[in-house]
Amino acid sequence: MRNEEEAALPDGFSTFDVDEQLAPVPDYKRAGDTAFLDFSGLLAEPLKLHEDLKTGCGGQLWPAGIVLAKHMLRYHRDKLQHSRILELGAGSGLVGLAIAKGSSIDLPLYITDQVEMEALMQHNIVLNRLQGQVETRVLNWGVPLSPEVVDFKPEIILAADCVYFEPAFPLLLRTLHDLLELNPLATIYFCFNKRRRADIHMFKTARKSFHVTEIEDADRPIFSRHGIFLVAFTRKSPEPTPSRVASLAQ
Ligand SMILES: C[S@@+](CC[C@H](N)C(=O)[O-])C[C@H]1O[C@@H](n2cnc3c(N)ncnc32)[C@H](O)[C@@H]1O
Repeated sequence: MRNEEEAALPDGFSTFDVDEQLAPVPDYKRAGDTAFLDFSGLLAEPLKLHEDLKTGCGGQLWPAGIVLAKHMLRYHRDKLQHSRILELGAGSGLVGLAIAKGSSIDLPLYITDQVEMEALMQHNIVLNRLQGQVETRVLNWGVPLSPEVVDFKPEIILAADCVYFEPAFPLLLRTLHDLLELNPLATIYFCFNKRRRADIHMFKTARKSFHVTEIEDADRPIFSRHGIFLVAFTRKSPEPTPSRVASLAQ
């Protein structure tokens, strides 16, 4: 039986299919499917996720999202409880909703995406009775951060499977950069599925701008077979000064 991570891979998709030039395009699922996920028992009550591709590719489950959600639940549950968390390109809301369901977070967690995905994210919040704990916002990459995000100063930023459309790479890099400028102590948990040579190029560009750490995860041998990378981006330089740290703590 395939595990959740493998089950989320489109039929017939494996690392062995991944050509450097030609990415396999996932089969689009029927609108109206609901998935139930407990992340290998990490959630006591499964997350319900309505999938609907009418408004964009984010409306289905993506394997990197499952890897990232599982990683956060398994290794960072305590830290998540008191952190300011924001998810980029949340799609159905998979990662943020799993975190909210699995850790009693104190502060609202923001799942963000383009306006077309807002209704689905909202639907999944209600489906999991997470109103008040999780909120949706429109956050378009490459656009200056809204005053609300600036005030929020996210400490944990989540981005799963946001590397798939080449023209959006510079926009995403801009937003990641802006978020690390806003809070130099923030960590971006970044999980992506290498499908094309350009994806690695994007990653190499990120390496020039951010400090990149490969994150320990017991599932790495499984997900790396599927071309999935899990890393953390932090600000490269300058090191946060004591006065900057103090101002961020306010
Ligand atoms: C492949 S989906 C991944 C969805 C989700 N993170 C997951 O793992 O299931 C990529 C998401 O990025 C969003 N996205 C693409 N371009 C964007 C942009 N310029 N600004 C904000 N979000 C964008 C899409 O709407 C989509 O929901």
